[in-house]
Amino acid sequence: MTSLSDSNFHLAPESDAEDLRNRALTALLAARLRTSALTDSVTDGELTAQHSPLMSPLVWDLAHIGNQEEQWLLRAVGGRDAIRPEIDSLYDAFEHPRSARPSLPLLAPAEARGYASDVRGRVLDILESAPLHGGGRPLERAGFAFGMIAQHEQQHDETMLITHQLRSGPAALTAPEPPRADGSASLPAEILVPGGPFTMGTSTEPWALDNERPAHRREVAAFFLDTTPVTCGAYQRFIEDGGYTQERWWHPSGWAMVREHDLTAPLFWHRESGQWLRRRFGTMEPVPTDEPVLHVSWYEADAYARWAGRRLPTEAEWEKAARHDAAAGRSLRYPWGDADPTPERANLGQRHLRPAPAGAYPAGQSRDGVRQLIGDVWEWTASDFLPYPGFAAFPYREYSEVFFGPEHKVLRGGSFAVDQVACRGTFRNWDLPVRRQIFSGFRTARDF
Ligand code: AVJ
Ligand code: FE
Repeated sequence: MTSLSDSNFHLAPESDAEDLRNRALTALLAARLRTSALTDSVTDGELTAQHSPLMSPLVWDLAHIGNQEEQWLLRAVGGRDAIRPEIDSLYDAFEHPRSARPSLPLLAPAEARGYASDVRGRVLDILESAPLHGGGRPLERAGFAFGMIAQHEQQHDETMLITHQLRSGPAALTAPEPPRADGSASLPAEILVPGGPFTMGTSTEPWALDNERPAHRREVAAFFLDTTPVTCGAYQRFIEDGGYTQERWWHPSGWAMVREHDLTAPLFWHRESGQWLRRRFGTMEPVPTDEPVLHVSWYEADAYARWAGRRLPTEAEWEKAARHDAAAGRSLRYPWGDADPTPERANLGQRHLRPAPAGAYPAGQSRDGVRQLIGDVWEWTASDFLPYPGFAAFPYREYSEVFFGPEHKVLRGGSFAVDQVACRGTFRNWDLPVRRQIFSGFRTARDF
């Protein structure tokens, strides 16, 4: 195991162990409720089927969630022996690509459920007496390993929701509609984010993952940023202006992707008698023009931005817009301040199964007035996924380090599908620039 770089973890000595224990318990229980909703809503046949070569069978995610929890919380933190050491390699994401997972001798649905709940029962015993204060073993400090595992489960819950979106057949999930965006017609199209240094990343957020660390100063010149993510209506104007037929808007590899797959619109969009429709969780519906566009690749976001005479924001620009409080002279945890997300501030946690219209969530806007930076859609940035200066892999190289490099682009801000435990102003997601099954959108920027 890699040793913890203490300089990347500055924990307040007064972190209250009982508060952390409750937070860990709440986060683990919330994740399991979500996992159950995603896996109890389809038949066993659908759990073991592969709905897309891009995804694992849902039953693989389920047992992988349990196996990671066993490895980190039962074995590493709890010092217990393995319950089922023979299955570790089946659920090692690096040993088997997603497309090969259906042919593995996976645990059947009932076994996978039993295994995950067996692990969880033992973990709750360990959590009851684990020392969670600032001075313990690195994995236990501030309940880090428990927070990491709750985030891991929620990340796979987003992955499983993507599988739900890719499956055919009638809807299996329902959720209430997100809030409207009353009064958003009067919002400015873009916001000036003033230039100057700001603090990027964190060394103090207890459950921030290794790639978000350490906090460091960055100089960011003044720039303009879209007030909201780019909408389906704006994106339709790009399509109608021949966006997908003109090479000049596209990165060369993006143009190759468009030609190879005959792309004409975001994933899940269909044109029928002059109208754009989309399939969303088993239902066909007209594309809502006022909603942030979803299911676009980095290449499509990049091409749209060039067509619009603009560009994608860099990752540092995005984080400055989302966190910098010029009056206070420091970075906030979220655009609205340091308080945790609430349903009034952001569309997170699969509470709704779609983004809210552009301009919603006035209570979640940044100090400068930028809206919907957290929740709704993951936002592609111009930046490659690279380590911050002083990065140290913790607790395993395969979480972040092996993915650093120019082949992955950074996404920020989280989507409606990600839980708040796995989303904050510093959180970094990444994917290949061709990916469009993820809940990805974008906003654009321009130099001041
Ligand atoms: C951070 C979302 C890219 O799903 O591949 C899950 C998270 N890491 N299990 C992924 C993750 C290990 C990861 N992403
Ligand atoms: Fe995983």
